[in-house]
Amino acid sequence: MGIGKDGKLPWKLPSDMKFFKELTMGTSEPGKKNAVIMGRKTWESIPSEYRPLAGRLNVVLTRSGSFDIATAENVLICGSMSSAVELLASSPYCLSIEKVFVIGGGEIYREALNAPQCDTIHITEIDASIECDTFIPMVDTSVFQPWYSSFPVVENNTRFAFTTYVRSECK
Ligand SMILES: NC(=O)c1ccc[n+]([C@@H]2O[C@H](COP(=O)([O-])OP(=O)(O)OC[C@H]3O[C@@H](n4cnc5c(N)ncnc54)[C@H](OP(=O)(O)O)[C@@H]3O)[C@@H](O)[C@H]2O)c1
Repeated sequence: MGIGKDGKLPWKLPSDMKFFKELTMGTSEPGKKNAVIMGRKTWESIPSEYRPLAGRLNVVLTRSGSFDIATAENVLICGSMSSAVELLASSPYCLSIEKVFVIGGGEIYREALNAPQCDTIHITEIDASIECDTFIPMVDTSVFQPWYSSFPVVENNTRFAFTTYVRSECK
């Protein structure tokens, strides 16, 4: 369940990046867009030329008041997960935002995976032994059931598959 190393992704998998982009950008209603919620460290891990992530409303969580990225267009800063979710569910955002994706890192995933509002988990399962320093908990299979798993993809000598879990019961 490793997801990060030294403030970066521990692997280079362009197909995974493409999948992430398509998944988080895709909407069923034209004119709407999705929001991506991330921790301050994940925001900082995105190369400056790629942030904010295009075509999505970027929501950055931070508790430290000193962090200032408010000048960036298409970026919101929130002090907690619940305030971010409340903000996105209220006007005007609820009119233009279709889906909300939590995109890491470890601290944020640990909170979101246990939240009752989390109804789907998309995991790229990488079949390799790679050193990591940031981890997420195992998916709780008493709450989430595997719903889809792709055929394995091989890229850069690494085998991986895209798996989706859906919430199947309220705990
Ligand atoms: N494989 C993946 O899917 C994936 C995805 C994303 C990131 N990553 C990797 O994960 C690592 C980063 O993860 P991380 O756990 O170190 O950091 P993180 O979760 O990205 O960010 C942690 C920061 O977010 C803020 N924060 C956390 N919980 C909060 C809350 N409830 N309310 C408000 N702010 C909150 C705090 O910012 P302040 O200190 O400013 O208060 C905290 O220091 C990197 O290696 C990155 O590459 C992997």
